[in-house]
Order: sequence, then C-alpha cells, then structure tokens
Amino acid sequence: MILFLNNYTVINNRVPVSFFTFAENTVCAETQQPEEKQKSKIINNPMTIIITGTSSGIGFVLAEYFGKKGHKVYGLSRKHTESQYFRSIPTDVTDNTAVQNAIAEVLKTESKIDILINNAGMGMVGAVEDSTKEDILKLFNLNLVGAVQMMSAVLPTMRENKFGKIINISSIGSEMGLPFRGFYSASKSALDKVTEAMRYEVYPWNIDVCSLHLGDIKTNIAENRVKTQVSEPYKSIFDKVYTLMNSHVGDGTEPLEVAAYVEKLLDKNKWKAHYYFGKFGQKIGVPLKWILPQGTYENLMKKYNKLD
Ligand SMILES: NC(=O)c1ccc[n+]([C@@H]2O[C@H](COP(=O)([O-])OP(=O)(O)OC[C@H]3O[C@@H](n4cnc5c(N)ncnc54)[C@H](OP(=O)(O)O)[C@@H]3O)[C@@H](O)[C@H]2O)c1
Repeated sequence: MILFLNNYTVINNRVPVSFFTFAENTVCAETQQPEEKQKSKIINNPMTIIITGTSSGIGFVLAEYFGKKGHKVYGLSRKHTESQYFRSIPTDVTDNTAVQNAIAEVLKTESKIDILINNAGMGMVGAVEDSTKEDILKLFNLNLVGAVQMMSAVLPTMRENKFGKIINISSIGSEMGLPFRGFYSASKSALDKVTEAMRYEVYPWNIDVCSLHLGDIKTNIAENRVKTQVSEPYKSIFDKVYTLMNSHVGDGTEPLEVAAYVEKLLDKNKWKAHYYFGKFGQKIGVPLKWILPQGTYENLMKKYNKLD
C-alpha cells in the first residue's frame, strides 16, 4: 500500500532507511548540533580555497562570498575576472597542463590548499538519439575529466598537509535521467560515482570529498549549454520541455543561498558522500525515486516535465 502523507510516501507503513539518510543529508548543514559547531574550526580560520568556474554564476558568487569572509580565494575559469575579493587565474580545466600551471601558481604564494570547489561545468540539451559523439565528449571532458584533473592536481598538497576538503558541484538531476538532458544527468552521475570511490581512497590523509547536488539555481547556465540539433520527430515535445527547463532555472534559487549552504557544509567536521540543496519540490524527487514503484515515479516525472 502506498500513502502520500504531507509529501512523504510510506510503503506498507514503512519508510525506508534511505529516506532518513536523505532527510539527514538535506538538513544537516542547516541544523548543526551545538556540539558539532563547537568542534568546527574550519571556516573561522583563513583558508586557501580554489574554486573553478568563477567567471559567472554560482562560482563567481562563491568566490566573492568566501573572499569577503577573509579567505584566500583563487578562481579558475577561462575568462579572467576582476574582483577585489579573489584572484582570477585564467585556466581551462579540461587542459591538464593549464591546471598544473594554475596550481603551481597558487603554491608560489600559498603553503597549502585547504579547499577545492569543483564548480566549472556546463549543461547539455537534446534528445539522446540526436546527440553527437563530439558534444557528448565535450560535456564529459568538462563535467567529469576537468573535475578529476583538478582533484589530481591538489591532492598531493592536501596529502602532505594531512588536510583537505573537496566539493564536487553536482545536480539533483544526476540522480535521475532527465528528459532531453540525459547526458548532463550522466556526466554529473559519473562525477558522483568517482566522488564516492575517492572517499575510500583519500580519507587516510584526512581528506574529505562530497557531491553537492543542486536544484535549479538562477544563473546563465541555460545560455552556456551545449545544444544538440533537434530532429523533426522530437521538435514539438522538445520545445515544451526546453521552455519549461529554462523557466525552472529562471525561477531558481539565488546563488548566494548556495554560498551560505556551502559555508555551513565546510564548517562540518565530517561529510557524507551526498548533500542536496534546492527547492523542496526538486529535492523530494530523490527519495521518491528510492521509494516509489518505478512506473509511479516515471508518471510523476512525466507530469513534472509536462510530458503527459
Ligand atoms: N544553475 C543551475 O541551475 C545548476 C543546477 C545544478 C548544478 N549546476 C552546476 O553548477 C555549476 C555552475 O553552473 P552555473 O549555473 O553557475 O553556470 P554558468 O554561469 O554557465 O557558469 C559556468 C562556469 O564554468 C566555467 N567554465 C566552463 N568551461 C570551463 C572550462 N573549460 N574551464 C574552466 N572553467 C570553465 C565558466 O567560465 P568560462 O566560460 O570563463 O570558462 C563559468 O564560470 C555547474 O557545474 C553546473 O552544472 C547548476
């Protein structure tokens, strides 16, 4: 039997353990225990923070936010960005030599790198059938390989320092195949799996890694997406979904709220693999996928995406 109670679904009077894990993940940063707060020292000390994708959107807001709080922030994106709060080092994160050079540049003035926020990324829209190998590789090269190259570049220093925190900016959409964004979901999902695996590999050096899954955030991401040419059979349905997805971003959460959430996350001593931030209606899609029968879940997704 399935019941919908105050937006929570109960199957045969049982709420799966995974639901509680989700609920805890979702609220942990907002509801820290006093004891945890006392122990936490991270964000109260000046940290060396590297953030990728800082020429616009979430990355720019994060970089200014932490720079204003007195942290030493380095922003890596292809375009140079003027800011009094962080130093911009123009870097294409898909180019490993450029990444190595940027980290070497940071280490000329810093003895350590405390935090990496892998934020550089792009979206991709189009039907799976229409997607070209070139576009798919371009997307994965940034959203997965770029992030991995950044992690590989900072890990030796973090290991030496026996401390490091890495946040990989993922998406709530990595937990489900979104219609006409299949490769975007897949690229973030791949990054999530790499994140999970790395946690076992780097914890002996007090290095923590997590995926931060965001819902829609109000940025220019829609303009910067890879857009696959849409073939005739998909045109009318694609147009509907495309208009809807852009309106969701337009109505999305302000990037400043992401920065405040990241600050609380950084202040936690120990992380879980996954954190979720966004509007409730989007976050709830994750536990619903775990607990609903697959057909019911797909029907809900069709409704949400106006496909029915
Ligand atoms: N906005 C949302 O609704 C949303 C939802 C979930 C997750 N996210 C994730 O949040 C992250 C930030 O997105 P956003 O919304 O802030 O989008 P955005 O405004 O388009 O910002 C993307 C940033 O990535 C940088 N970038 C792109 N290619 C790069 C490269 N090869 N090397 C270095 N930097 C590169 C861009 O700078 P340059 O062009 O100067 O290089 C830009 O600063 C992305 O990973 C995105 O997937 C966003």
